[in-house]
Amino acid sequence: MEIFKEINALKRFLGPKREKHMSIGLVPTMGALHQGHLALIGVSKAHNDLTICSIYVNPAQFNNPTDLAKYPRTLEDDQAKLVEAGCDVIFVPDNHEMYAQATLLSFDFGLMDKVLEGKFRPGHFSGVALVVSKLFNIVQPSRAYFGQKDFQQFRIISKVVEELLFNLKLISVPTVREPSGLAMSSRNQRLTATELTRATIFYRSLLFAKQELLKGSTFDWIKNEVRKNFELIVGARLEYIELADTENLNATEIVSSKTILLIAGYVGEVRLIDNLLME
Ligand code: PAJ
Repeated sequence: MEIFKEINALKRFLGPKREKHMSIGLVPTMGALHQGHLALIGVSKAHNDLTICSIYVNPAQFNNPTDLAKYPRTLEDDQAKLVEAGCDVIFVPDNHEMYAQATLLSFDFGLMDKVLEGKFRPGHFSGVALVVSKLFNIVQPSRAYFGQKDFQQFRIISKVVEELLFNLKLISVPTVREPSGLAMSSRNQRLTATELTRATIFYRSLLFAKQELLKGSTFDWIKNEVRKNFELIVGARLEYIELADTENLNATEIVSSKTILLIAGYVGEVRLIDNLLME
């Protein structure tokens, strides 16, 4: 496995591969890798001649400085997992490499980055769009892989690719869960054993909401029930549970195969998100 810290060195390595028409799969991550990330690597390996995993904790997408400071950094472990997963290349740039100059550019996605996560994390998706655009320009992948767990992120990156005419295919990979149902997340590392059990309330609430919607219960009633359940668990706090259109992320009351339930909140100090398609 090759490891690059510098953009130019990575480009020099990739140039000849591209000339030989090798397909390149890119898996952008912020490290602290788990089975969810490795599932993306697995799908990329099945589709492409060469798979690159980038590991970069992108300051531009953190609206909370404590969250940035506490974000787990486990590079040695990550490298071992990537070798085992058969990843071909790791790109681990530092802040100077990715932001050699202060950024003036920011993205505005209209309603798409004002709702759900965007409402609670102002500037987050602009930071994601910026770093992902940089990675696309550096790597020029044939395909790029993202998890369904960050559904809004996937939709926003789809917009970026569409509007900026990036010549690549985006692939969404289903969420990988713990046996308890908890969606795997790098942030789970910050949870204590008790909190890990409490955190199962996110997926349980999604399953409950889906079942009740299919039975015809109103979404207002469901929201209330979910909020009450969160309040019963000391140290868990619901930010939102919403039903939204999968294309434009607008809130909706109408259940169809093109709607998705999304949830976010805190267990202790750790913010978690999850979602469930209504299909
Ligand atoms: P990060 O949270 O490290 O996630 C990297 C990729 O792994 C994302 O596409 C995310 O959706 C996916 N992922 C995370 N948990 C998953 C799970 N349980 N199952 C399946 N896929 C999962 O998302 C980011 O980093 C950053 O915003 C990034 C895109 C790298 C830009 O900085």
